[in-house]
Amino acid sequence: MNKQRIAIYPGSFDPIHSGHIDIIKAGSKLFDKVIWAVGANSAKKPMFTVEQRMEMMNLVNKFPNIEIGQFDGLLVRYAEYLEAEYIIRSLRTSNDFEFEFQMTLVNKKLAPELTTIYLPAKQGNIHLSSTLIRELILNHELIDDCVPSEIRDFIRRVKEV
Ligand code: PNS
Repeated sequence: MNKQRIAIYPGSFDPIHSGHIDIIKAGSKLFDKVIWAVGANSAKKPMFTVEQRMEMMNLVNKFPNIEIGQFDGLLVRYAEYLEAEYIIRSLRTSNDFEFEFQMTLVNKKLAPELTTIYLPAKQGNIHLSSTLIRELILNHELIDDCVPSEIRDFIRRVKEV
């Protein structure tokens, strides 16, 4: 039997938005199994707890080959633990590329057997960013098409938006 192609789709997902959901859907078609995982970005102070972020991911996870996960520490160590060979990251504009490429090179140094693939954001999702959504939430606003209705209801419930 052929070896399973396992990928990890890591991010802060604080909160998830329609762009993330589009990428995980694409990943589910490309790989046998995708671990959609919340990791810690030391440059960001989260608004939602890891448990809340995973709850949001579970609300929209309709795919049998996607598992929700969480890791502390280095992404490459978690990927090794999962026996994943691929990392999925998304690019919105060329601005994203510089940071993503740097991270890819560091991850490659740490774990040469891991391959990062970049999936392009849909044109209609290019404006979406968790940072801007957090800003809106702090100001008690949400744009309707940023997040699907399940996530909007969740955010309204836990943050009283
Ligand atoms: O959604 P984000 O904030 O762009 O996700 C970044 C994330 C969490 C994937 C990245 O910060 C990460 O992998 N953090 C774990 C630590 C790590 O392995 N960093 C990369 C090599 S230094």
